[in-house]
Amino acid sequence: MKLFIDTANLEAIKRVADLGLLDGVTTNPTLVSREKMPADKLYDEIAKVCSGPVNVEAVNQDADGIVKEARDFHKRAPNFVTKVPCFEEGLKAVRRLADEGITTNMTLVFSPAQAILVAKAGAGYCSPFIGRLDDISHTGMDLIEDIVTIYENYDYDAEVVVASVRHPLHVVEAARIGADVVTVPPAVIDKLVKHPLTDVGMKKFLDDYAKIPKG
Ligand code: G3P
Repeated sequence: MKLFIDTANLEAIKRVADLGLLDGVTTNPTLVSREKMPADKLYDEIAKVCSGPVNVEAVNQDADGIVKEARDFHKRAPNFVTKVPCFEEGLKAVRRLADEGITTNMTLVFSPAQAILVAKAGAGYCSPFIGRLDDISHTGMDLIEDIVTIYENYDYDAEVVVASVRHPLHVVEAARIGADVVTVPPAVIDKLVKHPLTDVGMKKFLDDYAKIPKG
């Protein structure tokens, strides 16, 4: 399973890149709005740190506009992947971009029905938002299970990106189900690393090492 970081914060991206664990980055306009930097400048900085897919969201509302935005991103850096919301104009744009060989990530996916259309449109990635489903008392992970099964049934090419991740168990469940990618906010990455028994064990080993007579 590939690990993407779900943030537009450069320091957080660099930290995971330094760990050697960064397969890609996902951003969205909300995340970018927190960074107080022009979006294009920020995207270029992120692309310098991450050689994997850097997902940047299209904001046009019609297929022509989305196609133009995605072409522009693609020209600026080959690893930019344009995120396109799952609606009619978005589906049209994704089909046209796929025919041109430009990879897209369809986002704001909340149902297996949408995910089928995403794959048939030729998107490279499909991003179901599981945390937002959990928030309204639907089990987000059931959606991942459905989409993974459907994509396997038909050998669809789109990779399933588990998005809107809220806690470490989302990551573990995504891996158990066999999702292709999980995109994780920095705070959850910290929680993945830490375990209290690791901290206790390390302290004990260091304390005991200090007791060993020095030769
Ligand atoms: O990758 C999508 C993600 O950024 C949405 O997360 O926490 O706003 O539901 P959230």
